[in-house]
Amino acid sequence: MKDMTEKIEQDKRLRERMERIKNKIIVISGKGGVGKSTVSVNLAYALAMKNKKVGIMDTDLHGPNIPKMLGFEGEQIIPGAEGIEPFCVNPNLSAISIGLFLENADDPVIWRGPLKMAMIKQFLSDVN
Ligand SMILES: Nc1ncnc2c1ncn2[C@@H]1O[C@H](COP(=O)(O)OP(=O)(O)OP(=O)(O)O)[C@@H](O)[C@H]1O
Ligand SMILES: [Mg+2]
Repeated sequence: MKDMTEKIEQDKRLRERMERIKNKIIVISGKGGVGKSTVSVNLAYALAMKNKKVGIMDTDLHGPNIPKMLGFEGEQIIPGAEGIEPFCVNPNLSAISIGLFLENADDPVIWRGPLKMAMIKQFLSDVN
């Protein structure tokens, strides 16, 4: 019952947060190494330079390289009661990545499907 209530509350937070984001762009591909991260970072920077408020959510849970590409590799984030504060790259650009929660960039993440979905959902519902 508690699990169910938590799930409903999380879904509500997720919906509320997503409603506040005017445009969402998903960069995705079924194939690896085709330039997803490159496109994401350049798109984010280009929009930020045009004075748009941009947030990058890195959903690469196995080889998160957005922190390295944006220059915040090695930084760590401690989730607080008010949600999770993303890393502020510049006043227009913030980013969140599983890399911010690993003690070591090389730490293996061996989660399977359901845990990955839970992580992505938590990013969507709890990152400020
Ligand atoms: N348009 C392009 N032309 C040539 N090389 C590119 C281009 N875009 C990206 N690359 C290079 O291809 C390699 C893979 O790019 P990138 O890391 O962005 O891909 P990815 O899809 O995010 O990979 P992964 O699946 O490992 O996350 C990098 O070395 C990058 O510099
Ligand atoms: Mg990538």
